[in-house]
Amino acid sequence: PNPEELLASISETFSVRHDYGEVLRKSLLFYEAQRSGKLPANNRVLWRKSAFVDDRGLNGEDLSGGYFDAGDYVKFNLPMAFTTTVLSWGVLAYTDAYNATDQLAHAHSAIKWATDYFIKCHVKKYEYYAQVGEGVIDHLLWRSPPRNSTRHRRAFKLTTTSPGTEVVAETAAAMAAASVVFRSVNPSYSEELIRHARDLYDFGNNYREVYHRSIRDVQNFYRSYSGYKDELAWAASWLYFATEEQEFLTDAQAKYNEFNLDNRKPAGFHWDDKTAGVQLLLAQMTSDPKFNRSVEQFCDRFLPGGDFPYTPKGLVFIQEWGVLRHAAGVAFICMGAANLGVKPEIYRDFAKRQIHYMLGDSGLGSYVIGYGPSPPTRPHHRSSSCPIPPAPCSFEALRNPSSNPHVLTGALVGGPDGNDRFTDDRRNHRSSEVALDYNAAFQSAVAGLKYLEL
Ligand SMILES: *[C@@H]1O[C@H](CO)[C@@H](O)[C@H](O)[C@H]1NC(C)=O
Ligand SMILES: *[C@@H]1O[C@H](CO)[C@@H](O)[C@H](O)[C@H]1NC(C)=O
Ligand SMILES: *[C@@H]1O[C@H](CO)[C@@H](O)[C@H](O)[C@H]1NC(C)=O
Repeated sequence: PNPEELLASISETFSVRHDYGEVLRKSLLFYEAQRSGKLPANNRVLWRKSAFVDDRGLNGEDLSGGYFDAGDYVKFNLPMAFTTTVLSWGVLAYTDAYNATDQLAHAHSAIKWATDYFIKCHVKKYEYYAQVGEGVIDHLLWRSPPRNSTRHRRAFKLTTTSPGTEVVAETAAAMAAASVVFRSVNPSYSEELIRHARDLYDFGNNYREVYHRSIRDVQNFYRSYSGYKDELAWAASWLYFATEEQEFLTDAQAKYNEFNLDNRKPAGFHWDDKTAGVQLLLAQMTSDPKFNRSVEQFCDRFLPGGDFPYTPKGLVFIQEWGVLRHAAGVAFICMGAANLGVKPEIYRDFAKRQIHYMLGDSGLGSYVIGYGPSPPTRPHHRSSSCPIPPAPCSFEALRNPSSNPHVLTGALVGGPDGNDRFTDDRRNHRSSEVALDYNAAFQSAVAGLKYLEL
């Protein structure tokens, strides 16, 4: 059977009509709920208050702001920057979808909340704070985010003697992508972002080291197993996208070849591995059919009959930890391939089935909090599971069997097991945690589906 028949046989028809604008609106509310620092007067998530307003660098630099990573309060810049790049890419590819649903300004704010923070973190050309807070220490507590931390949170700085290429290059990519988002609405900010992107790229490119060697704490949380080669090619590609300077394209292609990215077979498109993103960007920006073919080979590996199993209800089951964000990452890339004319019907059908599975069309419920049929109500997420301060909070709130007292609207949870089984259990972080990067490709893919309806 051809892939289309296989897709149809393995997964539901998924003909439910969704209000994608509503999903985009809610996903953006999730990002608002993750904000760290002093919240603005127009904060829409009323149960969230200003938090960690005193985050500082080693020389007292203001490092407040940015986003909490997941169900905790650490600010991990690698997934935060990846999120920013992918949200920016979605806004650039599907501007009309955001505009038509009145979400463009909110999407800009979500991106700017991160890029404002990255500007603070980038204190000198070759100095960049890549983490605030410590995973191990943060996870010892189950609490509401304090306005001030009782003890200053540790800040981790990368320098020429302790460099970290993945996170610096990913931040360069994020700043370059965001600079295009802001080009017409805020030209001076756009210029500022591109300056940071260039400097960060130089830093990452000239001082190459895997970043977990310099930031030991990240080892158990966001160590990059794919290394920094994909991020360097990704950053150069985004710099070309933003500047159209030929030398960045030459550089991106040289790195792609030197690092042999064509022969990688990444298990998705996610915070650790951007190979497929590089392939899609280069396919968009060059006329070299090699990249076109690479994206096609990537997507085909996730279709039924490819390299990955499917659940009985039709979810491509890439990895049990946060399976839905993996499916969303692939869906987003393959929608981009479809836009280039590569197997458009098949890839759009695949992407829609994956996203609709998350929205609840499988008949087993939605995986987006506050949206669709019987969504999860007990995410593994500290601030929404705790009462508003000064009411006390503790690990009791983790164990409490009731729903989280605050609805973490718009968050995509980890997801089911390989048999479509999901228990809405706060203690299970593999299935019930939420994270910045989970929503990023998901939201951008939803924007892609909305775009097709316009
Ligand atoms: C909280 O942080 C602010 C800003 O750094 C500082 O001015 C204030 O004294 C701190 N308050 C407490 C109680 O630590
Ligand atoms: C958004 O849509 C309005 C109404 O169609 C249009 O006038 C405006 O130019 C659009 N903005 C962008 C950024 O596309
Ligand atoms: C990519 O592949 C599609 C489908 O085969 C084709 O229509 C398109 O022209 C190709 N683009 C490039 C740059 O090769």
